[in-house]
Amino acid sequence: MKQTWKTSIAVLASVACWALGGTALAQDGPVSMRGADVSAADKAPEAKKYLGGKPGGQEKVARTYQGQPPVIPHAVENFNEISLEENQCLSCHGKDVYEKKKAPKIGDSHFRDRDGKVLPNASAARYNCDQCHVPQVDAPPLVSNSFKGDIADKK
Ligand code: HEC
Ligand code: HEC
Repeated sequence: MKQTWKTSIAVLASVACWALGGTALAQDGPVSMRGADVSAADKAPEAKKYLGGKPGGQEKVARTYQGQPPVIPHAVENFNEISLEENQCLSCHGKDVYEKKKAPKIGDSHFRDRDGKVLPNASAARYNCDQCHVPQVDAPPLVSNSFKGDIADKK
């Protein structure tokens, strides 16, 4: 008798849980982590202004780890045409002009092929500069993190 009593309580409890749980689920529905329905178009994030002004007008941004492409410390509006005929980045950073333009020369790694062999001219694989180099924006990280660079103190 005692056993049956316990069993009925357990059954009753689980039925209650199921009913309550069911109601809660029906009320809230699944919630997407983005906060919007999956089928809704993504909202464009707020547009931020790039920090840089004229080249040479501000401090370089410290690199944080080895092998990092340095971020562009200057504005890129009007400086970033990269086409078959023209590469404005190279018109200041190219190896034949950088001294005259008082701009840093493109990195040593840009003069190597993929096997590490030194090339007389910059590798075509480095032609599309903004594939790796991006301008700076003062924005909080999208996801908070505790990343610590390995060269931040040295540069
Ligand atoms: C009018 C000349 C000019 C043009 C065009 C130009 N830059 Fe620069 N750039 C400079 C000068 C001068 C500096 C160094 C002074 C400074 O920090 O602004 C510099 C700095 C940089 C640096 C920082 C290097 C470091 O060691 O931190 C990067 C990266 C860079 N430029 C990339 C680019 C890219 C990519 C483009 C094309 C979208 C570009 N630049 C177009 C003149 C130019
Ligand atoms: C595939 C990625 C990639 C591309 C494309 C690329 N870079 Fe770089 N860049 C890097 C990395 C990584 C470094 C740091 C290592 C080095 O100095 O070679 C660097 C370094 C630099 C530096 C700093 C050099 C120094 O002496 O400190 C400048 C300036 C630069 N790049 C300009 C350019 C320009 C201009 C272009 C386009 C013509 C370009 N880069 C294309 C990845 C890239």
